[in-house]
Amino acid sequence: MSDPTQPGRLRLGVNIDHVATLRNARGGALPDPVRAALLAQEAGADGITAHLREDRRHIRDDDIAALMEALALPLNFEMAATEEMQAIALRHRPHAVCIVPERREERTTEGGLEVAREADRLARFIAPLAGAGCRVSLFIAPDPVQIAASARVGAAVVELHTGAWCDLVAEGRQQEAEAEFARLRDGSAQAHALGLEVHAGHGLDFETAAAIAALPELAELNIGHFLIGEAVFMGLGAAIAEMRDRMDAARA
Ligand code: PXP
Repeated sequence: MSDPTQPGRLRLGVNIDHVATLRNARGGALPDPVRAALLAQEAGADGITAHLREDRRHIRDDDIAALMEALALPLNFEMAATEEMQAIALRHRPHAVCIVPERREERTTEGGLEVAREADRLARFIAPLAGAGCRVSLFIAPDPVQIAASARVGAAVVELHTGAWCDLVAEGRQQEAEAEFARLRDGSAQAHALGLEVHAGHGLDFETAAAIAALPELAELNIGHFLIGEAVFMGLGAAIAEMRDRMDAARA
């Protein structure tokens, strides 16, 4: 069992969106995302992530309220930079708010935020959230321009999008995967040097999580779809515990 207070330990945030996807497929109350979050808490997660999308395709408003009520762990509330979501975040004041780009037609969050292009708007958007005590994180590609802009607009954290790298690994495109991994490595170092806390996530599985866990500047990985899928075969608690072990082994 890993020690949550160990310095330099890489935190594991478990994203429970796809428990809600399964629930919504039948329109009832089961499986319950709050039960999954409590199980993740027991199994070694350091935080819970939930994305309230504009179309409410998985997590719904009442899930956020129930998670805030039930959890001892910090909640990382993922949302688009809209007025509606800002009001919800300010009402609940979760530990962290992760701002992501959102397009209705996408299957999942594709690409990162255009922080440099939207710097003024994002700075104005972030200020009240930070003022309410939320740690604001920006989900971005490992692009030096976006990282530098994130530091300027007042974010405390950047989450580097690992989706492109994971896709290249899965497709066996080794050289391109190595180049993308180098962008993640350099981006982590750049963000850390700018005083940002560095997270990473999207598309990670046991192998890619262990590989990226070796980057020393990373403070947190956020992982969802793979863990919920693996839960079908090995159980959610066991999948999270195995992920935790592999991350700790990579850090050691
Ligand atoms: N981090 C962010 C910002 C995300 O949007 C997502 C997907 O909702 C994840 C992490 C988790 O990605 P996955 O479900 O592919 O593990």
